Amino acid sequence: QEIPTIQIIDAKKYVGQTVKIGAWLRQKRGSGKIAFLQLRDGTAFFQGVVAKADVPESVFDVVKSLKQETSLYVVGEIHEDERSSFGYEIAISDVEIIGESHDYPITPKEHGTEFLFDERHLYLRHLKPFATLKIRNTLIAATYEFFNERGFTKLDSPLLTGSAPEGTTELFETDYFGEPAFLSQTGQLYAEAGAMAFGKVFTFGPTFRAEKSKTRRHLTEFWMVEPEMAFMHQEESLEIQEAYIAFLIAKVLERNEQELDILERDKDLLRSYTELPYPRVSYDDAIKLLQDNGFDVAWGVDFGSPEETFLANHFAKPVFIVNFPKAIKAFYMKRHATRDDVVISADLLAPEGYGEIIGGSERDTDYDYLKERIAAEGLNQDEYEWYLDLRKYGSVPHSGFGLGLERMVTFVTGEEHIREAIPFPRMTNRLRP
Ligand code: 4AD
Ligand code: MG
Repeated sequence: QEIPTIQIIDAKKYVGQTVKIGAWLRQKRGSGKIAFLQLRDGTAFFQGVVAKADVPESVFDVVKSLKQETSLYVVGEIHEDERSSFGYEIAISDVEIIGESHDYPITPKEHGTEFLFDERHLYLRHLKPFATLKIRNTLIAATYEFFNERGFTKLDSPLLTGSAPEGTTELFETDYFGEPAFLSQTGQLYAEAGAMAFGKVFTFGPTFRAEKSKTRRHLTEFWMVEPEMAFMHQEESLEIQEAYIAFLIAKVLERNEQELDILERDKDLLRSYTELPYPRVSYDDAIKLLQDNGFDVAWGVDFGSPEETFLANHFAKPVFIVNFPKAIKAFYMKRHATRDDVVISADLLAPEGYGEIIGGSERDTDYDYLKERIAAEGLNQDEYEWYLDLRKYGSVPHSGFGLGLERMVTFVTGEEHIREAIPFPRMTNRLRP
């Protein structure tokens, strides 16, 4: 009978059977009589046990020679292992080295973060990055599920653009056959064009901001999900936003138990964030609340991270801060019906210090007003002619928002720093690997 080749994650289906697994050696310990091999194969992590008495001497010699990150095939019988959180192990009877490994730089001792990110191409193999990026993968898959189930069309927006809708200070400029072009800060304007063609769309792709501030929440290249809905006002958009966040968290709880355990993320706390609705607090009230709690903030300022953290922790849930001052928001946001100083916008702030995970608004629909705002912001008017066309030919109320994927990853995984949330982070001080 042929020995089945399996993945570690499926070990529970093969208890008592002899199987073959392609894996890498994470760590090895043991004595002259027994060796414990910590194995990983990209699906899970478990232990292989090799007893000298049970295998030919040649096999035990190979095992003794194995180095960290050697790739190998192991053959053995799957057993239950109540001592490990995974629950199974393999009693190895044979080993075949596939790829040697020497002087692997990330040893079991503690390393500094900068070093680990210099070695990110290897660090990806380790427990924490593995778990974090598996959860990122679930968030991506669940995003497509959520929007597909609701009749949205995925619309791909360009990454090379002539426009700077989120302001001109954070642009990466590049040469486009002799004319200046910018790496996209947002897909929104294109999503708005898409909404007028397909009704409900979402973009999802990398966006770029030359953020000079070094914080644990900012990348220069990050991925954004940007839904845009025609014939929709802001309140309905907020309902979609909270349903989307709760859906994402529920899917991670359902599919990533192993990864949440590796990261020691509190699952009950996460589950509490799936209870809707999330509170809606006006910017005015948020300022008052902050002032009442000793923050030195005046109406009109943008929130910094201590303010964001306080607000979301105060409600013990993600919280929408609605209707920000016009002066600190983008040109396209819809005017308030009765006030000239605020716009119909909402930021969704995550609890526990993970900051703003969504920014969104209803969009103004008036041609003349937007033309004025574009000029007032000092934006290049020629670049927005096509955008203004959307207000000339059947303009309708529409709303949309942008979720920062890596912010969401840090929130769900409990990671302290956003660099953990993307395979190869780009920050002011990091372009490699
Ligand atoms: O609030 P922002 O700037 O909104 C927009 O770009 C709109 N065009 C979205 C829309 O309405 N379609 O960015 C949206 C989200 C933020 O809430 C945050 O989660 C994330 O993108 N974000 C960043 N994430 C990582 N690094 C950065 N430098 C980020 N800047 C924004
Ligand atoms: Mg924002």
